[in-house]
Amino acid sequence: MIIAVDGPSGAGKSTVARILAKRLAFLYIDTGSMYRALTLKALENNIPSDDKNKISELARSTKIDLRNNADGSLTVFLDGKDVSLEIRKPKITQFVSDIAKIKEVRRILVGIQRQLGLRGDCILDGRDIGTVVFPDAKIKFFIDASAQERVNRRFKELKGLGQNVSEDDVSKDLSNRDKIDSTREASPLRQAADAIYIDTTGLSIEQVVEKMSEYVKKNG
Ligand code: CDP
Repeated sequence: MIIAVDGPSGAGKSTVARILAKRLAFLYIDTGSMYRALTLKALENNIPSDDKNKISELARSTKIDLRNNADGSLTVFLDGKDVSLEIRKPKITQFVSDIAKIKEVRRILVGIQRQLGLRGDCILDGRDIGTVVFPDAKIKFFIDASAQERVNRRFKELKGLGQNVSEDDVSKDLSNRDKIDSTREASPLRQAADAIYIDTTGLSIEQVVEKMSEYVKKNG
């Protein structure tokens, strides 16, 4: 069974999707980490994010894989190298949406995501899972929260990772990516018509996971 989890940055998708996957013993596939890994490679190769041809070529010659670890964490491999921590850095976050809006990049990464989905029961989180990657997913969630709450959560998360960012930086980054992700031509961020909308503003992680588990129990 496929469970699709979509929504904007900072709404807590990855956190709740990971916990839910562990609870259900499903594979967890963080599709954003794949766009981030490709962004890292583009930066390492000094390819500007607006050079669509070079980036597309890079996407075709890159191997990205994900591994679910026993403790519930996820390891992201870029051409066989563990880049799990590196892809969370601000430089990557700054350019990832520009890379992710390139049609050919999406075609290639969506192909890999569909392959990963064949590995068994899984939860995928991203922006276009319920609309494009797995439009026939059995269960679809759209996880949202108010803009201020999303900024607060992401700020706390990055501080926890030891990053020296201000709340203002986080706010600017989220609104910039929200804008690019939801206005791009290729599979923009949208709630699928058959997705369950969850506004997580004011809810704890546990409360959100509980809502989702209940729904899966009834409809899975
Ligand atoms: O963790 P955060 O919510 O900040 O973002 P992410 O899930 O790591 O995704 C990073 C970026 O990748 C997003 O801002 C999108 O531009 C892009 N993305 C996408 O276009 N489609 C997906 N299925 C997942 C991510």
